[in-house]
Amino acid sequence: MAKNVGILAIDVYFPSTCVQQEALEAHDGASKGKYTIGLGQDCMAFCTDIEDVISMSLTVVTSLLEKYGIDPKLIGRLEVGSETVIDKSKSIKTFLMQIFEKYGNTDIEGVDSTNACYGGTAALFNCVNWVESSSWDGRYGLVVCTDSAVYAEGPARPTGGAAAIAMLIGPDAPIAFESKLRASYMSHAYDFYKPNLASEYPVVDGKLSQTCYLMALDNCYKSLSLKYEKFEGKPFSLADAEYFVFHSPYNKLVQKSFARLVFNDFLKNTSFVDEAAKEKLGPFATLSGDESYQSRDLEKASQQVAKPQYDAKVQPTTLLPKQVGNMYTASLYAAFVSLIHNKHSTLAGKRVILFSYGSGLTATMFSLQLRDGKHPFSLSNIATVMDVAGKLKSRKEFPPEKFVEIMKLMEHRYGSKEYVTSKETSLLSSGTFYLTEVDNMYRRFYEQKTSESALSANGH
Ligand code: ACO
Repeated sequence: MAKNVGILAIDVYFPSTCVQQEALEAHDGASKGKYTIGLGQDCMAFCTDIEDVISMSLTVVTSLLEKYGIDPKLIGRLEVGSETVIDKSKSIKTFLMQIFEKYGNTDIEGVDSTNACYGGTAALFNCVNWVESSSWDGRYGLVVCTDSAVYAEGPARPTGGAAAIAMLIGPDAPIAFESKLRASYMSHAYDFYKPNLASEYPVVDGKLSQTCYLMALDNCYKSLSLKYEKFEGKPFSLADAEYFVFHSPYNKLVQKSFARLVFNDFLKNTSFVDEAAKEKLGPFATLSGDESYQSRDLEKASQQVAKPQYDAKVQPTTLLPKQVGNMYTASLYAAFVSLIHNKHSTLAGKRVILFSYGSGLTATMFSLQLRDGKHPFSLSNIATVMDVAGKLKSRKEFPPEKFVEIMKLMEHRYGSKEYVTSKETSLLSSGTFYLTEVDNMYRRFYEQKTSESALSANGH
């Protein structure tokens, strides 16, 4: 069986168009600090009329193959995770086949996985399981997480975002799965769902979604701890992993989530929680589960106790989710990308725990072991290829009024046919795919911005 199966290479793409949360807050008439401190968000990326989940995934897959020098014929499985519905039948994966058909490779398994923000994790597990299985043919798996997160006007709107992430899967990976250390919690809830097929916007019960998320987190952490104890013969505590990466709808929920894990460790009486912290959390020890989700005092006390460890174990994962917003299926992996960007030189030999959550609800906590990889699959090369800082720097901030105008245009276009886009590509970097037209049979057409078209757009 293949050993150390996991992620060999990653690339990330997010639109260069964005709106500052501080400006949006003022525009929306929210109290100052609500989006920036209250939700913990800095900026939000969004697609204009020339970008969508298909163009973003075409861009990120092409870029990954080129930058790591991967022959497209060597891809044997391609799985997409997304909750952005463009077509109820035709998968996003089939659009991506355009990249591989050119090279004569049509022998590629896999389709799309959908359940809110969890689809990317399902796609990732499918690829990892395939490489570990008897049907593996020795080629690479490729996972794509792609979403455009948009909300109707109102309190949820600042928790949008957009991105696509591609991950190459194979053996001897620098980011290897500890396959036995994986725990899920799945249940039926109406916290966030998209029953209105005529609209891109979800129906969302914001407060319920927060409680569902934390409840799923508790359950996954308990199961994972039990499994660890069974395999390792000792209890698991937060000290047993270097970093914790969370699905990030907005940063405040990530802060609350890590605090919740600290509270779990306190209840388990692990050595991770010191005497001073025990004293602060003591008054909450007898709360029932339900009471503990509603207790604002517990939330405050546990966040305060957790702060130094949050800064060490979580903060390095928060860059892209704070700057780009919720990317749904790509959010968790954008947090992981941020960790590699910030810490690639010190990650080898470290365990990282990830928590994936998708409303409705599905959740899994799983463990990765990081190792030195061989070029081009080394952690430092992955950081170089992703160029997170460069991509953030070359963005264009739009005023909130313009953002709202674009959202209105996109609402109008959603599900419609017979339109030609603006083809305004001056903000796209060379190599980016964009939507040119949806014809009278709803067929979508894309082009790639080439370096020549980039030069002529710049007037050279
Ligand atoms: N300065 C500082 N903080 C402020 C200010 C201010 N001026 N005003 C409000 N706040 C704080 C609040 O106290 C609150 O923080 P707390 O939870 O630590 O107390 C925070 O800002 C948010 O304020 P709320 O009044 O709770 O916000 P509201 O209810 O209007 O909306 C919500 C927040 C529910 C998250 C909404 O944005 C939403 O529905 N988003 C989509 C759902 C979502 O993302 N759910 C997460 C899991 S599911 C998924 O991934 C899609």
